[in-house]
Amino acid sequence: MKKNIVVLISGRGSNLESIISAANKKNFPAKISLVISSNRSALGLKIAEKNHIKNFVVEQKEFSNKKLYEEDLIGKIVQQDPSLICLAGYMKILSKKFINKFKDKIINIHPSLLPDYKGLNTHERAIQAGEKYSGCTVHYVTEELDGGKIIAQERILISPSDTPETLSRKVLEREHIIYPKTIELLLS
Ligand code: GAR
Repeated sequence: MKKNIVVLISGRGSNLESIISAANKKNFPAKISLVISSNRSALGLKIAEKNHIKNFVVEQKEFSNKKLYEEDLIGKIVQQDPSLICLAGYMKILSKKFINKFKDKIINIHPSLLPDYKGLNTHERAIQAGEKYSGCTVHYVTEELDGGKIIAQERILISPSDTPETLSRKVLEREHIIYPKTIELLLS
């Protein structure tokens, strides 16, 4: 039987879409049982809908504090008994309490060669610094932003003509391969 995974998103959802495609294959060890978006207008919600995947919007602004927001999230996630929680463009920082609740089960994809370029605007910063390579990294989520143990990483050559947009497209293409592949490896 396929294991459950929960995917957390905040925006476009192209990584979500790549995990859905992989999970649709018979031999993939998991299925997405729930998608939660931190943002009501995330395009990724439409992708979940189109693929008939249960989805919720849980926006922090609906709660009086982050603790209550996360308690709501935890309640919804626990019901799925997930083997993995995959952050896919989920742009919120999770608390220690949340992370400990799902110890070693939360993973994230980040558009840089971690530990370089944690945080935002990774492509812009890599180009500005004259880096030869960029890439993407799948890592465990810990309290330190983009700081958990690295599980998989792909390197991509930055060409002199690259802009943050072209580099982002190139890296994203690789993200769509590396993320489902890593999930498959972890759960097989
Ligand atoms: C992806 O490039 C992902 O690596 C990045 O956001 C984008 C989401 O795209 N994540 C982070 O920067 C997390 N620190 P998507 O919504 O189309 O999957």
